[in-house]
Amino acid sequence: MKRVLFLLLFSAAVLVLAMSEGAKVTTSNLRLTQIAGHELFVLKDCTQCHTLAAKTEGERTPVPNKRDDAWFKEHVSTESTLVLAEAKSKGKKRRILKKELVALSDFLFESSVNEKTQVKALASNVRQGAYLGYQNNCIGCHKIAGGGKEIGPELTHVADKRGDRKWLIKNLKNPLQFAPESPMPAFEGKLSKEEMGKIADYLLTLRK
Ligand code: HEC
Ligand code: HEC
Repeated sequence: MKRVLFLLLFSAAVLVLAMSEGAKVTTSNLRLTQIAGHELFVLKDCTQCHTLAAKTEGERTPVPNKRDDAWFKEHVSTESTLVLAEAKSKGKKRRILKKELVALSDFLFESSVNEKTQVKALASNVRQGAYLGYQNNCIGCHKIAGGGKEIGPELTHVADKRGDRKWLIKNLKNPLQFAPESPMPAFEGKLSKEEMGKIADYLLTLRK
């Protein structure tokens, strides 16, 4: 009987530890494009022929060298013609592919081994939230870990200031309610509630 009680207490302690460990996740060292690049590598089916491991796995080969920009662009466009961000016009389509090349390249060739491991280990809601943030161009106005522009405030440690998930979602829905002059787009109607929730989950990992 005592033994059972001990086991129960022990499992409870392990669970509490695991949960507090999960709560401590931070991505404030990662550029949004590094996380998005990982998503693209999977979504664009690069994994059909390639592996992220340093060694060959079965039929698939690793991708250690970019060779050069022109070669990489050509290879990605021929092997994966899938353009994932929504294209609103023909001209834009090409720009979106360029954006995808930047993210793929940032993840594959500018990230350290530790950063890659960190990205791969992220919870799926956080990874998807970051990918949605990348698709909706948050870094067109916000800086995160040295990447992006500074039209709006830097978001690298935004969770230390804005740690409230509900506030983050409200602000995404309609920024004008908090900053009447805001150039930030209202995402209500463009993104689902679930998608805004995932972006908020990602933002909450941006802290010291
Ligand atoms: C249908 C299979 C296929 C798909 C899909 C594919 N590749 Fe490749 N990739 C290859 C082959 C084959 C080579 C070797 C080509 C050569 O040696 O000229 C290669 C080479 C590469 C290299 C150069 C590796 C080196 O060390 O020289 C990179 C980088 C690369 N691919 C990235 C990607 C990315 C990113 C994607 C997804 C957008 C992708 N590939 C999709 C087949 C594929
Ligand atoms: C066109 C520029 C623009 C875009 C795009 C944009 N924002 Fe903003 N954002 C701003 C500005 C400017 C502010 C400063 C407050 C204000 O005026 O709304 C802001 C404020 C914020 C804040 C509050 C920051 C703080 O320190 O109080 C958060 C969080 C935020 N944005 C997240 C996002 C996310 C996530 C995205 C992408 C889904 C995004 N923003 C896209 C311009 C933008």
